[in-house]
Amino acid sequence: MTALPATNTVANKEETAVPNPAFVEQLEELFRQRRDVRRFQSEPVEENLVAKILASSCTAPSVGLSQPTRFLRLQNEAVRRDVLANFETANAEALQGYEGDRAKLYANLKLAGLREAPVQIAVFCDTGTKKGAGLGSRTMPEALVYSTVCSVMTMWLNATARGLGLGWISIFDVERLTADLKTADEWTFVGCLCIGWPEEYHLDPELERAGWETRDRKGPIVEVR
Ligand SMILES: Cc1cc2nc3c(=O)[nH]c(=O)nc-3n(C[C@H](O)[C@H](O)[C@H](O)COP(=O)(O)O)c2cc1C
Repeated sequence: MTALPATNTVANKEETAVPNPAFVEQLEELFRQRRDVRRFQSEPVEENLVAKILASSCTAPSVGLSQPTRFLRLQNEAVRRDVLANFETANAEALQGYEGDRAKLYANLKLAGLREAPVQIAVFCDTGTKKGAGLGSRTMPEALVYSTVCSVMTMWLNATARGLGLGWISIFDVERLTADLKTADEWTFVGCLCIGWPEEYHLDPELERAGWETRDRKGPIVEVR
């Protein structure tokens, strides 16, 4: 195999963060502190911060370097009203799928910050992108959507590091949403993100607090073949 030309190598070890135990510790702290946030203060978020969070999505891995993530910033009042109404209807329908104590619990969950979040972004994956020339996604088309998920995760951590909260919402009638937002057919909806200053910083997931589910702290399930 021929060696690749060195274009952007790090000149000496001090310039890189790796290996650096203090960096690893801080990174793990960032993972610990990241929360799905649905309760926001009303203060706006400075535009330069929003731009930095969106830009961080471009550093995420993507299949074939396809970078298929597309954003729709929801700013227009009527557009926001449609998205909120969509969520409320879908959430009421989801409630019908539960009974007894689960239904009571579900009815009391706060599952979106769409009324209060100053920044709202619908995230899509452009499954028709030519970028990357199909590498990896020819055999596994879903890898494009996985790539968009990677970019959301990158933004999530970036927002957390800046003290901002980010909440991911998936409770929608997707057909109605994409029709209302008039997006291209190749754009697959991945989720809506609410971003803003959190009411509170906390280490326990909101669903754990509410008694809906607990985080498995035993570690991942690993099978061996
Ligand atoms: C793909 C995806 C979709 C999600 N959709 C919703 C949602 O519609 N509403 C909601 O309140 N939280 C949603 N969440 C957030 C999860 O509930 C949350 O990540 C989980 O409870 C763990 O909490 P934590 O993120 O604070 O650790 C979603 C998370 C992911 C990864």
